[in-house]
Amino acid sequence: MLKVTQQPDVISFGGGLPAPELFPCREIAECTRDVMDRYGASALQYSVTEGIPEMRSWVASRLSPRFGREIAAHEVLVANGSQQGLDLIGKIFIDPGDHIVLENPSYLGAIQAFDAYEARYLTVETDEDGIVPESLERVLDTADPFPKFLYLIPNFQNPTGRTLAGPRREQIVRICEHYELPIVEDDPYGELRFDGEQLAPLASYARSGAVIYLGTGSKIVAPGMRVAWFVISDEEVREKIVLAKQGADLHSGTLAQYVFHAYVSTPAFDEHVREIVRTYRARRDCMHGALREFAPPLVQFNRPQGGMFLWARVPGADTNELLKVSTRERVVFVPGESFYPGRDVRDGMRLNFSNSSEEKIQTGIQRLCRAIEEA
Ligand SMILES: Cc1ncc(COP(=O)(O)O)c(C=O)c1O
Repeated sequence: MLKVTQQPDVISFGGGLPAPELFPCREIAECTRDVMDRYGASALQYSVTEGIPEMRSWVASRLSPRFGREIAAHEVLVANGSQQGLDLIGKIFIDPGDHIVLENPSYLGAIQAFDAYEARYLTVETDEDGIVPESLERVLDTADPFPKFLYLIPNFQNPTGRTLAGPRREQIVRICEHYELPIVEDDPYGELRFDGEQLAPLASYARSGAVIYLGTGSKIVAPGMRVAWFVISDEEVREKIVLAKQGADLHSGTLAQYVFHAYVSTPAFDEHVREIVRTYRARRDCMHGALREFAPPLVQFNRPQGGMFLWARVPGADTNELLKVSTRERVVFVPGESFYPGRDVRDGMRLNFSNSSEEKIQTGIQRLCRAIEEA
C-alpha cells in the first residue's frame, strides 16, 4: 500500500497519520533553542527511566481534572510512544498462550504488540456504544484460562471511531474489579473531541487501581517526538514497567522530553489543540457528507465524535477485494479484516480523514464509491 500511496495522484485514507501541515514546526524549533540555552548538556545526557520530572508533573496536572483526583507525579511514567507502552505491558503480563480480552475489532498495533508475546484473544461484542458490558461478563464467566487484562480504546476508537458510552464506563470498571481483571485504557485520541461532552476515563472510576492508562503526545503535538505516558497507580505494576523499560531502551529521549515539555507549557499549546480539533472536525464533516452524497445505499458508515477515523461497512463485500478495485480508481483505505483478531469479518473499512485536505476527501470518496459500485 505504501508503494501505491507514494504515487502523486493516489488519495490515501489508509494511514493513521496526523495532518503534517498542523505540526508546530516553528514553535518546536524555538523550544529546542530555549531548552539548549537553559539545560545545555543535561538535555543531551542519559536520564532516568521513569521520565524527566517536568514531564511527569505536567502529565499529572493535565490529567488530574479528568481523573477527578490529584494524580501524583510518581504515578506517571514516560514511554517512547504509547506503542512502546503496549509492548511493555505485553512484556510484563503475557506468558505464551495467555488470554487477552479485546474489543472486536481492535487496534492492529496492539494485536501486533501482544502477538509478540504469543497472546491469544477473547473478543467481546461491541456495538455503536463500545464494549457491551453483558458480553464482557459472559466472556469472563467462561474464560479458561482466565485472561490477563482487558485492552480497550474508549474514545474514538481505532479503527471504528466509536466511543464507549458514559454509563458503560463505570459498569465495565465494576465488572473488571469484580473479576479482578486489570484494564489497559489506551487513550491517544481523547483530546480530539469534535462534538459533545468529554467523558471521564475509566481510570477515574477505579477503586482498586487496576486501570493502566496510556496517553500520548503523538496526536496533539507530533508523533515523531515519541513522547507518551502511562498513569499507573499500582506500585508493583509501575515498578515492573520501569524494569521492563530499562531493559528495552534505558529511557525515552531526554531532548525530546525537554522540548515537548517546553512546548506544551507555552500558551500556544491549548490553541494548537483547538486548531487540530477544528481542522479534523471539518474533515470528518466533509468525509461524512461525501459518503452521504455518493455512497451506494447498502454502504453503512458512522459519524465519529472525534479522532481520526471513520468506519464503513459494505455488507456482503470482501474489502480486501474492494481495495484492488479502489487502487485502480486511485484511492486506498485499510480493509477491516486485519483489525479483527479472528480475521473473520471482511466487510469493514477504516477511512482516515485527518491526513487529507477537504478537497482530496471529496474526490477520494467519489472515487471510492465508484469502486464500490464497480465491485
Ligand atoms: C489506539 C492506538 N494506540 C496506540 C497508538 C500508538 O501511538 P504512539 O504514537 O503514541 O506510539 C496508536 C497510533 O495510531 C493508536 O491508534
